[in-house]
Amino acid sequence: MALADFVAELDALEAAAVSAFAAAKDAAALEAARVEFTGAKAGRLKAAQQGLGKVDKADKPAAGKRFNEAKQAVEAALAAAQERMAKADKPRAAEAFDPTLPGRRLRLGHLHPVTQTIADMKDIMGRLGFTAVEGPEIEDEWHNFEALNIPRTHPARDPLDNFYLATAQAGAKTQANGSAGQGEKPLLLRSQTSTVQIRVMEGTPPPVRIISLGRVYRPDTADATHYPMFHQIEGLYVDRRVTMADLKSVLRLFCQSYFGKDEVHIRFRPSFFPFTEPSVEVDMNWQGGWMEMGGAGMVDPNVLRAVGYDPEEVTGFAFGLGVERVCMRQHGITDIRALYENDVRFLSQF
Ligand code: FA5
Repeated sequence: MALADFVAELDALEAAAVSAFAAAKDAAALEAARVEFTGAKAGRLKAAQQGLGKVDKADKPAAGKRFNEAKQAVEAALAAAQERMAKADKPRAAEAFDPTLPGRRLRLGHLHPVTQTIADMKDIMGRLGFTAVEGPEIEDEWHNFEALNIPRTHPARDPLDNFYLATAQAGAKTQANGSAGQGEKPLLLRSQTSTVQIRVMEGTPPPVRIISLGRVYRPDTADATHYPMFHQIEGLYVDRRVTMADLKSVLRLFCQSYFGKDEVHIRFRPSFFPFTEPSVEVDMNWQGGWMEMGGAGMVDPNVLRAVGYDPEEVTGFAFGLGVERVCMRQHGITDIRALYENDVRFLSQF
C-alpha cells in the first residue's frame, strides 16, 4: 500500500473519531463511539494498525509515526469527551439551584389542644369575674387531704391511689405502707386541684372568686378516658349568701360559652366529696348524650373552719372539672391517650 493512501485513511479515521466523541450526548453514546474507534478487538484503530503491515518497507517508519500521532489524537479526544461527561453528571451548586421553583412552605407550630382549652377556660371564667391562680404540683398532706376534710384514715389517702414522693422531707423513716411516721411531712404529687382552694383561702379573707388550672397525678391505668397525668379546672366562690343556684348558673354559662351553643345543658347528680356538702357530679349534654365533667358542691363548713373562715358568715361553692374531657368533647377526640402521644400529624389538626 502506498504511504499516501495509508495516511489519507488515518486522517479520515482521526477526523471521524474526534467528531464522534465530541458529538456523544450521553455516556452510552460515548461508550459506543469508544468501542467503534479504540475497541481492542474490532476497533477501527486496530484495523488501521494491521494496515501498517501492508505499507511498502521503505515507507514503514513514516507510516508508523503517523499511526502513533493519529492514535494519540484519538485517545486525547476520547479523554476530553469522558471528562466533559463526568462534569455534566455533577452540576455545580449554582447551576443546581433553580430560582424558578416554588419555595418550600415553612411549617408553623401551634398550641397543644389542651393548652388551647386552658386558655379558653381562663378567658371565659375571667369574664365571669374569676381570677386565675396557680398552686404547686408537689403538695403536702395538709393541703391535699387534711384541710379538705379527708382524715388520715380515709381510703383516698392510700399510697396505692397516690404518687407519694420519697424525699428527704418525707423522711427516711417512711413506713412500709408508704405513709410517714409521726412528725414527718410526706409530700406527694397533687391528686386534685382542690389543694389550691385551701392555699387561696388560707392567704385571703373572703370574698374569694378564683379558678385554678393545672396538672394533677393519679396512678390510674391509662385507657380511652383516663391518664395518669391530666388537667383539672378548679373553681371557688366564697361570699355571703352563695348558693347551689349560683353554682349551676356559673357552670351552665361556662359550658355554653365554651362550646358557643345555647343548647348546652348541665345536670347535677347527687354524690359525695369530703370537702363539699352537698356534693354533686356535674354532667353536660350537647348534641345528645350526657358526659361526666367533674365534681362540685357547697364548700363543707369544716373546710371553711380549717382555713379560718366563719361558716355562719360566708358560704361558697367549688367545682373541679377534667380539662381533657372538655377538650375531647369539643374536638370529637375519642381517646385521651392520643393527646399525649405527641404525634404531630394528629395534633396539627386542632
Ligand atoms: C375531684 O377530683 C374533685 N376534686 C372535684 C371537686 C372539686 C369536687 C371541688 C367538689 C368540689 P374527681 O375525682 O371526680 O373529683 O375528678 C374530677 C374529674 O377529673 C372527673 O370527672 C374527670 O373528668 C377527670 N378525671 C378524673 N380522673 C381522670 C383521669 N385519670 N384522666 C383524665 N381525667 C380524669
